[in-house]
Amino acid sequence: MIRYAIVGAGRMGNAHANNLSCIENAQLAGVYDILPERSRELAQKHNAAACSSLDELLALPNLDCLIVTTPTYAHAEAVQAACQANIGIFCEKPLCRTQDDADRLLALLEGYQKLFAVGFVRRHMYKVIKAKQMLDANTLGRILYCNVDLPHGKYKRMPGDWFADFELCGGAILDMLAHHVDLCNWFFGQPVNVYASSLLLDSKLPLPADYVASIVNYDSGVICNLMSSWQRVGRSGEMMEIQGEKGTLIIDGTDLLTYYDQQGNLQKIDPAAEFPAPKVAGHGVDNVNAASGFFRQSLSLTSALAGEKLPLPGIKEAYDSLKVGLAMIESSQTGKVVAF
Ligand SMILES: NC(=O)c1ccc[n+]([C@@H]2O[C@H](COP(=O)([O-])OP(=O)(O)OC[C@H]3O[C@@H](n4cnc5c(N)ncnc54)[C@H](O)[C@@H]3O)[C@@H](O)[C@H]2O)c1
Repeated sequence: MIRYAIVGAGRMGNAHANNLSCIENAQLAGVYDILPERSRELAQKHNAAACSSLDELLALPNLDCLIVTTPTYAHAEAVQAACQANIGIFCEKPLCRTQDDADRLLALLEGYQKLFAVGFVRRHMYKVIKAKQMLDANTLGRILYCNVDLPHGKYKRMPGDWFADFELCGGAILDMLAHHVDLCNWFFGQPVNVYASSLLLDSKLPLPADYVASIVNYDSGVICNLMSSWQRVGRSGEMMEIQGEKGTLIIDGTDLLTYYDQQGNLQKIDPAAEFPAPKVAGHGVDNVNAASGFFRQSLSLTSALAGEKLPLPGIKEAYDSLKVGLAMIESSQTGKVVAF
């Protein structure tokens, strides 16, 4: 049995607990949130211990892994404590909020003997795995460019919420675009330079909202154009369009991939049909979609903690995605290209 602890019993803490409850060899041992009622509520739902401090949580017997789902600015503290306790760590993306914290975590985790994984959930989605296979098989030929369009049209956060404070969450760049920056890094190689313009979640606006337009150049020659927004009214969606010399592949918000071959023929690919259905077990709770990236991420994490060799994104991937995000922020602030 793999025994988990969760720090941060908000939206993602609850989501991970729900997924774990549907995995046969996973057990939630304890929960800690700075708001005691949240610890109690989540712990009660999953028959776990409600702890009154992070130290108490990490002192639970036979823990295998701490899941860090605190706000971004508080990740580093929890990751460091879990390192001291010498247990596995799963940290939600982004790795942390600042370069200093990122450097400290990189130094701490590079030689870490236990598992460290970061929550780049898209890497666990069938459509993304299939897209990576197609890129590796050179189906699209040499890749020329990639467009990422990531608007969130129902941004409701208000001042006082950490999600509306740029210094705490890093706005659309660090919070939302982090996923697609990671995919660009995974697909296209080493980023060479970054240019960006962003509202940086401007708190002077009557209702804080965000917008970023950025270009990242890769050493492979691929040009990536990434846009993301948090808007009060407007469309939501996601689209990653990868243009190669032999075809164009689109990963969007649906489960299907869209592929245009060299002759312009359109093909819809159903990646889920190519993978075995995941096993759902345990006491189970509502709202768990076994085919979702989130469930598959929890399954892979549990299998990796049980000793299976699985390529989970770790500290290097987390650090590299953050590096590009922080460069977008720097470029937006200085108006200059940031070269690596
Ligand atoms: N992978 C994804 O798709 C995805 C989606 C949403 C959020 N996230 C990430 O997950 C993290 C959490 O986001 P969320 O939406 O769950 O936030 P949230 O605000 O809903 O939950 C955070 C919880 O942490 C608690 N908390 C705050 N400081 C704490 C501390 N020092 N110690 C213990 N508990 C503390 C809060 O009381 C709250 O209950 C963020 O880093 C966010 O970027 C990832």
